[in-house]
Amino acid sequence: MLEKRLRLIGQDHIAKLLEEDAPFISRQEIEKDLGQTDMSLVNELIKGNYLYHEPDMENVAPAEIIPASFAESDEARSYRKHGEELLKKGRVAVLIVAGGQGSRLGIEAPKGVVEVSPVRSKSLFQIHAEKILALSRRYSRPVPLFIMTSRENDDHTRRYFKDHSFFGLNPEDVFFFTQGMLPSVAQDGKLIISRQGGLFMNPDGHGGTLAALRRNGCLETLESRGIEEIFFFQVDNPLVFVCDPLFIGLHSLRGAQMSSKVVRKRDFGEKVGIIAKVEGKARVIEYSDMSDDMRYAVDDRNEILYWGGNAAIHMIRRDFIESLTGADRRLPFHRAHKTISTVDSKGNPAEIKGVKFETFIFDALPLAENTITMEVIREHEFAPVKNRTGEDSLESSKIMQSNLHKSWLKHLGIEVGSENLVEICPLFAMEKDDLAAHIEHLPIKIVKDTYIG
Ligand code: UTP
Repeated sequence: MLEKRLRLIGQDHIAKLLEEDAPFISRQEIEKDLGQTDMSLVNELIKGNYLYHEPDMENVAPAEIIPASFAESDEARSYRKHGEELLKKGRVAVLIVAGGQGSRLGIEAPKGVVEVSPVRSKSLFQIHAEKILALSRRYSRPVPLFIMTSRENDDHTRRYFKDHSFFGLNPEDVFFFTQGMLPSVAQDGKLIISRQGGLFMNPDGHGGTLAALRRNGCLETLESRGIEEIFFFQVDNPLVFVCDPLFIGLHSLRGAQMSSKVVRKRDFGEKVGIIAKVEGKARVIEYSDMSDDMRYAVDDRNEILYWGGNAAIHMIRRDFIESLTGADRRLPFHRAHKTISTVDSKGNPAEIKGVKFETFIFDALPLAENTITMEVIREHEFAPVKNRTGEDSLESSKIMQSNLHKSWLKHLGIEVGSENLVEICPLFAMEKDDLAAHIEHLPIKIVKDTYIG
């Protein structure tokens, strides 16, 4: 019986409300939420187990980072070629994490449907899908796409792809899977009632991807398709260079289990996690965990010492995910203190301070035997849409997308008005060097906002 189960796990306050038939609590919702919850895990988390522990800052050192200039070197060619070979052989899949709540943007819909492209207002999902379609044409091989959703946005996301005919992708190559949820708890470790009468739950963080891949049978799907490597990124970055062959090649030939791209921090205060080295292992140190000493540390040229901002773009080996999701292995949980909308004992709306538990994919880095970290130019590959205004907003992202595409045109000697926005469809050109082949279809001068595709 539900009440008994709740008492057994120390949640008497909810059992009592159910016994009293409180009108603002729904037995069905509570049952559903508990059914999706690993209560023994939650109990351990409440007790303070399985939590993330900050490294001893004395052991933190700058990471070894392959500089962006490497891409121009002769040596880069063989790595790029290897990456291309893996794509041609169909060994690489794409994974987009899109289960977040987009709370900073303040949207109800999945972030992937936000229209971000500068001229045609294409959505994030459309841009990513078109890049993947372009890749599969280039390498004459479908590139399977895995999209992680959450309980809240799964229906909407699936419908969106269906309504848009999967943006040209073969639906058989697109896989949706849903991440886990965890209940938030009050400061005293008690479960919280949501305004819908169930438990207040939150998605379990992008680190939940790994367990969700296993739980939803995606690891088997990946294996049966001969996939060895996963190109991972976050839905909110329209500039991502999907399946960059150089990154794939470096990661693979250097025997890494997980690899990362970083961008140079804009300034000391940019709120981005950085990749550092702790006891010989790559590790992301979140901005909020950095001491001032570390944040403001400089190198011998007086430049930011910890400059490698995590762009949240990774290569991850499938067999590494297999091993990380085996019995008794899990990523550490971070506690985030949040204001939570709930109801008081009479059912009136109330707000309380609570704790949300989540895991982060980058905590898999120190668990890997080998990793590589590669610098990329922010303006070429990283324009995330996080905030409503200012840095990393819709507006700044649109300008960065347009500026990149303008630079490709300027490279070919095409004049572009400084006021004009430009957008190049990924199906027309995936990267700068693709444009030259189309030179006869391009205008000599651009004097208005222009879509090229
Ligand atoms: P963010 O941490 O930026 O979160 O997620 P968010 O949901 O997009 O935005 P805020 O913080 O609520 O404003 C980075 C990426 O990780 C995914 C998001 O969808 C985004 O692509 N993510 C985050 C998940 O898939 N699941 C999660 O539980 C959290």
